[in-house]
Amino acid sequence: MKSIEQSELWRRLRSAKHGVIIVLGTGQWGKTVTVHSLIAGGTFPGRNVALVNYPPSFVANHSYPSNYRAVQWPDDLNEIMDVIHPSCDVVVVDDAIFLAGARDSSTRGNKGLQKMMTIASHNELFFLITIQNSSMLDISMFQSQDVYMIHKHMDLVALQNERDQQMISQTVANILLSRKMGQHKNINPKSWAYCSTTKEMLCFDLPPWWEKNMSKPFKGMIPS
Ligand SMILES: Nc1ncnc2c1ncn2[C@@H]1O[C@H](COP(=O)(O)OP(=O)(O)OP(=O)(O)O)[C@@H](O)[C@H]1O
Ligand SMILES: [Mg+2]
Repeated sequence: MKSIEQSELWRRLRSAKHGVIIVLGTGQWGKTVTVHSLIAGGTFPGRNVALVNYPPSFVANHSYPSNYRAVQWPDDLNEIMDVIHPSCDVVVVDDAIFLAGARDSSTRGNKGLQKMMTIASHNELFFLITIQNSSMLDISMFQSQDVYMIHKHMDLVALQNERDQQMISQTVANILLSRKMGQHKNINPKSWAYCSTTKEMLCFDLPPWWEKNMSKPFKGMIPS
């Protein structure tokens, strides 16, 4: 089994200066863990990690590495560079439905994110986005040229609601993921992911600093 450092995804991201990585899959199947495990694997050396709209107290009260911080997505996009730093940050939009849901395509946050994705390359930024199903995410998120798709297990109902473009990739992913889970009983089934961009299976361990509560940054609140 290849480590993340031996993967094509890692090689491509290490040689890139920008990109949009979308992690798809059913709730509790390890999307948030995948994002942090990818970062912990040294994929973005020297970068700081901006957790969009995470409560600052949540970040302060958990054992995130010192290069992690909570940032508030601004109402006015002109203020974005006060919040996110070109060439220096990895921008994590966890549960992107709150900021870029398909049904909110005219909201300021969504338009702002679309614009930022469009200019991700000019600002040398990586965006890491998690969402349960691509049909929940605004279509523009998939139209940037440097999108990498990572699939976790997706249950049948969610799969039936997938965008046409993702239906085949996610079906292939589900089959390959089930096979790996069956073959490696000693590995947590949630570790597996399939990257349909690089066409490879990946295995993401929990980051060494992971705490179970980190799965629930929005517990008890409805993010704006
Ligand atoms: N690779 C792994 N090894 C061991 N446990 C894991 C792994 N990935 C996930 N888990 C467990 O599953 C829980 C849920 O994972 P995670 O929060 O990443 O799911 P999620 O897909 O982001 O869920 P949601 O859609 O609700 O945000 C974690 O808190 C952890 O306990
Ligand atoms: Mg999550």
